[in-house]
Amino acid sequence: CGIVGVIGKSNTTEILLNGLEKLAYRGYDSAGIYVNSQTGQDYLVKEPGKISVLQAAVGPEVQGTIGVGHTRWATHGVASQANAHPHVSADGRFYLVHNGVLTNYAELRATYLADVQFASETDTEVAVQLIAKIAHDDQLSAKEAFRKALTMIEGSYAFVMVDRDDPETLYVAKNKSPLLIGVGDGFNVVCSDALAMLNETKDFIEIHDREMVTLKKNSLQIEDLDGTFIHRASYHVEMDASETGKGAYPHYMLKEVDEQPAVMRRLLNEYVTADGQIKINADLLTALEAADRLYIVAAGTSYHAGLIGKTLFEKLAKKPVEVHVASEFGYHMPLLSAKPFFIFLTQSGETADSRQVLVQTNQMGYPSLTITNSQGSTLSREADHTLLLHAGPEIAVASTKAYTAQIAVELFLAVALGRHQEQAVALEFDVNHELTLVATGMEAVLSDKDQIEALVKHYLATTRNAFYIGRGTDYALSLEAALKLKEISYIQAEGFAAGELKHGTIALIEDGTPVLAFLMDQSTIDHTRGNLQEVTARGAQTFTIVSDAFAQPTDQIVLPQVNPLLTALVGVVPAQLIAYYASLQRGLDVDQPRNLAKSVTVE
Ligand code: G6P
Repeated sequence: CGIVGVIGKSNTTEILLNGLEKLAYRGYDSAGIYVNSQTGQDYLVKEPGKISVLQAAVGPEVQGTIGVGHTRWATHGVASQANAHPHVSADGRFYLVHNGVLTNYAELRATYLADVQFASETDTEVAVQLIAKIAHDDQLSAKEAFRKALTMIEGSYAFVMVDRDDPETLYVAKNKSPLLIGVGDGFNVVCSDALAMLNETKDFIEIHDREMVTLKKNSLQIEDLDGTFIHRASYHVEMDASETGKGAYPHYMLKEVDEQPAVMRRLLNEYVTADGQIKINADLLTALEAADRLYIVAAGTSYHAGLIGKTLFEKLAKKPVEVHVASEFGYHMPLLSAKPFFIFLTQSGETADSRQVLVQTNQMGYPSLTITNSQGSTLSREADHTLLLHAGPEIAVASTKAYTAQIAVELFLAVALGRHQEQAVALEFDVNHELTLVATGMEAVLSDKDQIEALVKHYLATTRNAFYIGRGTDYALSLEAALKLKEISYIQAEGFAAGELKHGTIALIEDGTPVLAFLMDQSTIDHTRGNLQEVTARGAQTFTIVSDAFAQPTDQIVLPQVNPLLTALVGVVPAQLIAYYASLQRGLDVDQPRNLAKSVTVE
């Protein structure tokens, strides 16, 4: 799910293909480009599968000065050549790429397009056929037909369109799906993510929901659907294109796992002074203090980071917290407390499930904070406050350094809030010391990858399933550890509360079933060891990840001791490496696992 477009460059094909490669990390299952020479030749090439397949299909003749490209993550219709984008209207005039989901496409098709021959099963094709129909029947210009169609279409979209009859313009529009304009000298680009175009420009302009943009090589015009023009300044992205490379690493995931100690230190630099003061703006702390309950809303790995955050806020700031899965919360909102404060955890800042909750809480007038890795992202713009993760680009689909960065930022916030409310435990918490211990602890784990690789070979080489167990924050960590393993190794892995195992799940234990336990929470270690005995008695192969102070000679992975509130930060590292080696040993695509997308902009 990614879009690129360019006008005014002679090497359009190369820019589009490079841009699509940069967006590949978001996950996709087909890709395509449309290129027009503006002097009569044009080319449409699209293929299911990897971008390399598309590249192979693009012959040397495919050259032009305007074009659009797309990676598709299937929603409506399987991944096939016909369903890949760009889509073209039946009259061959309009070429359209789209991210998002159109909710009324079936109705539009039945009402306006009953007599049109369709080439695909996609909602996108309905949009392009509708534009062509309007242009033809109402005798409207491409721009006006595009605008009229936008007023009829419901759902989420990022659209870029080319009119073959007049290929001087990219017609661009957005609602709920991310899209940016990149500005150049004598050319302009459009992309779902600035990363895709950093080689061309570092100056970008946001497009807001329900706006359209007319993009030419030397000009751009933003307007709303009523035709009111909007002036918006560009912003400069500091990131260097080289930050998005994987250097000498075989996979982005391994690079990102290895970067975690450096991210911890960078975060200390950004958020904490040498004498331990936390640099978080007083308005945010006052708003948090005024709240009677914090609601953390997130998806996937970010949700798991929220579960750890709950303990941090409750222990360090004595503030009650609920953690919710965004896709559930928005549609089944629980009874809220009198003064809620919403915290959105989102690496990308673009997750549609989380955003739909923010739209609602904004309408309800509740204060909010987004904790994200992506400056200027939708959830960051739309919340009252933003805290950045400073983790650098995370390219592997499986999230690693964003998880640990989220926990660290939650820690800063919890300590700052606790201190603001004069809680002794927060006043005494030495953030610099504790997080530095975490960074060195992570380094110790990372320096012994061979041991983990060997253990994976022994325990997980051929297994179809595996369980992670733990109690308290060890349980929250088990959920993340299991998610990592299933995401990239396709082993059916589940995280369970260790004490709950005997109430049902233990029925799944067979001879040789791997059960991995986190033993870092002192108050429950003995109980969890008891649960390990129960599964061993039923044939399980157990595997322990334990804090140094509680280790026994038979334990497998022994972790350096850190503050009891921060054990997940070190404990997650072996779990990330276990998932990495399990995927590698099975010969799978570590960075781009099947079916997954990095940034899911559909609900
Ligand atoms: C996708 C990714 C997950 C991620 C989740 C939430 O499903 O594959 O790795 O945890 O989205 O993403 P966010 O950007 O909101 O943290």
